[in-house]
This record gives sequence, structure tokens and C-alpha cells, in this order.
Amino acid sequence: MKICVIGAGYVGLTCVACLAEIGHQIVCIEKDEKKLNNLKKGIVSIFEPNMEELILKNKSKITFSSEIKDGLIDSNICYIAVGTPTLENGEVDTNAIFEVANEIAKNIKNYTIIINKSTVPIGFNKKITNFMKERTKTPFDIVSNPEFLRQGSAINDFLNPERLIIGTSSKKALEEVLKLYKPLNLNDNQILTMDENSAEMVKYAANSFLALKISYINEIAKLCEKTGANIEHIKLGLSKDSRIGEKFLNAGIGFGGSCFPKDTKAIVNIAKEKGIELETIKSAIEINENQIEYFFQKIMRFYKNNIKNKTFAILGLAFKPNTNDLREAPSLKLIKKLESNGAKIKAYDPKAKIENHQVESVKEAINEANALVITTEWQEFKELPLETLLKLKDKAIFDGRNIFINKNLNEYGLQYFCIGKNE
Ligand code: UGA
Repeated sequence: MKICVIGAGYVGLTCVACLAEIGHQIVCIEKDEKKLNNLKKGIVSIFEPNMEELILKNKSKITFSSEIKDGLIDSNICYIAVGTPTLENGEVDTNAIFEVANEIAKNIKNYTIIINKSTVPIGFNKKITNFMKERTKTPFDIVSNPEFLRQGSAINDFLNPERLIIGTSSKKALEEVLKLYKPLNLNDNQILTMDENSAEMVKYAANSFLALKISYINEIAKLCEKTGANIEHIKLGLSKDSRIGEKFLNAGIGFGGSCFPKDTKAIVNIAKEKGIELETIKSAIEINENQIEYFFQKIMRFYKNNIKNKTFAILGLAFKPNTNDLREAPSLKLIKKLESNGAKIKAYDPKAKIENHQVESVKEAINEANALVITTEWQEFKELPLETLLKLKDKAIFDGRNIFINKNLNEYGLQYFCIGKNE
């Protein structure tokens, strides 16, 4: 099938790479000139495992352009994957979608199926359908098809989804979308068709439920510290109950990234406009916002509130491993707190880059550092040899991702602090 994909962010580029991989012809539209020129040269500016490789492998099936009209010349399927940021007040900024919809309306010549991947407020499908109907006489359907891929495993998640949500009331569109995804080899019970509003809601409900799980385990972790329990044992005990499941029970310095912080705020705001207060999700947000301060206070207690001129080796900048994305990264909030209290920072991340304080290796970060702070659980850090850790001047490790929680580092003369075991 010939497909137009509008937007070359994480979601858009994953669609491009994977749809080409399963045999479709793609025109990808990106208006950022620098990004576009790089893509034309085969350079992908975001780090995502296998993304660049897959795009290069399928380059005969992919073209890039800045003009939506180029993508619509001979394709009757058009993906929208543009940003929908949440504003400070919780409102979702959907302007980019309106701009795109306006262009699509101007340029479609035959029946077109528009597949929306961007996260949008519930009811948006109907709104944008009406907006387009006022601008074109050509028939079209808009399908709400939220994306559940995670950064760091985006390609795998897209190609092997646990479920596919297809929100549409058009039989014709549904048939085409099912054909499009047929090569993914999904069982019938993994394909869930529903109305547009429900499809839009599933996305927010899923992200906020996962955020709830994280804030919940972070709260239980605090109680573990006060009661002599160990969060790792609690996690294990919980995970054996299939009603709870084993995923998203890692305590730490909280969730970041471009999705959970924005989507939890958005759903709270959407509900508020309907007169409903989502108390659980509001609490999850608040717990998450306080999590860095909670961790920072562990450092301050160890140093009796004086970290002036102490050097901290910060391992991990990205909001999670296997990505170079720094959006809402807990590490950056921590660095700010440490610095404003007079500390010196030497930060290392295998992929993410910041302007100041960055060093090129773990070794360089630890050299002459007083203490070590783990802020992202990269595999490289999990494998650090003991002798490297013993080089720290104050022999103190603050592990914000619990990567060494089972190692009994105290036995080797290291002072070890984590989330959910001892204070
Ligand atoms: C999240 C969802 O997991 C995806 O399903 C969804 O498609 C995506 O948002 C989106 O809406 O686009 P992502 O933000 O890429 O994906 O990453 P996650 O793996 O969900 O991690 C988010 C944050 O939660 C990270 O900061 C991570 O460190 C933190 N986290 C995750 C924990 O603190 N503990 C856990 O147990 C799991």
C-alpha cells in the first residue's frame, strides 16, 4: 500500500520504518528543514535501537518531503503523527493537527483514510472530522489508532504490539486498516475495534494507569524504608499475583519523558472540564513531582546539609535507558538542585547530551568524584566493576534506580542509598 506519514518524531519515524519493513511504500512529511535534510541523507537524529538501520534497509520504499501534497499524490492512507504538547494549565495543544488537517483537506482528490496516531483529547476525532468537512467535498474517514510504543523499544513494540486499538465507525476504513496491519500477524483477540471516543480514551487511561503504578510503588518504597522492609521483595511478592503483574513496579526517582507527565496532566484537565476530579491521578502526579526532592534529601542528610564543592558523578541523563531523550528527565532536575547548593557535577550518559558538565566516560565521571549518583539504569552502569565504585572519595553511592540494591555494597565499605531499602 502507498502511505503518507506526517511527522518525523518518535511515533512518525517508527511508523515509517516499520510500515516500510512490512512492505508498504512510504512518503514521510517533515517540515523541520534540518531534520528533513538529515533524513534524506539517511541520518536519524534521535537515538532509537534499530530505527536508522531499518530506515536504511528500506530506503527504496521511503521518500521524504516537506510538502503534504507530495505525500497525497497517490496514496489514500495518511498517518498523522505530530506533537500534541500539554500546556502549563493541562490543556492539550492540538494546533499542529489542525494545520495538517487543513493541508490534507486542500490536497485530497480521492477517498482517503486518515489514521491519527497523535494523542488527542477525547472527542477530538469528531471535532477534526467536522473541521475537514467544512474544507473539502472529497470523502474521507479519520481513524483513531493510538500508539503504545515505548521509547527505547519502539521498533519492536510497533512490530509486535500487544494490542491494536482501532477507533472508527466506518466499515470501509476498518477493512482497509486491517489490511494495512495484516503483515503484523496479530491474533483476532489482539485487534480491538471500538468507537473513536473510546479509542482516544484508552490511550490516556493506559498511560495514567502505568503512571499510577509507578507512583504507587514509590510510595510503598518510602514505607519500606521506615519499616525495615525491602522493596525488591515486595515487588517480587506483588508480581507473582497475575492480577497485579510484574511490570512497572520499579521504584526510583520517578517517571519522566514526553508522555506520562504530559498525559496525566491532560487527563486530569479533560476530566475537570467535565466536572470530575481524578483524585488518584492527581496524587500520582504530585508523588512523582516530589520524588526527586525526596531523593535529593537523602544526599543532603548524608552530607549534613552541606554539599558545597562536593563533586557528584551523575550516571545517566536520558529519562530512561536506550534513548537520548532528555524531556522531563529526572536527572536534570536533580542536577539543578545539587548545583544550586554549591555542588560540582560530572555527568555521563551513553547517548544523551547536555551543554555543561558532560564527560565522556564513567571512568572520567568517577575520577576525583566524592559520590556517585545513578539516575538512569543503562546496562553499562549495571555492569560496573566494584573496583571502579571503590574509587569514590567519600565511598557514597546514591542509586536512584535501584540497580545495585541486591549487591550488599555496604559490606565492601561503600555507603549505599537507594529507594525502598533502609533510609
Ligand atoms: C510510555 C508508555 O509506556 C507507552 O506505552 C506509550 O506509548 C508512550 O509512553 C507514549 O505515550 O508515547 P515511554 O514514555 O517511552 O512510554 O517510556 P516508559 O517505559 O513507559 O517509561 C516512562 C517513565 O517511567 C521513565 O522515566 C521510566 O524510568 C519510568 N518508570 C517506568 C519507572 O520509574 N518505573 C517503572 O517501573 C517503569
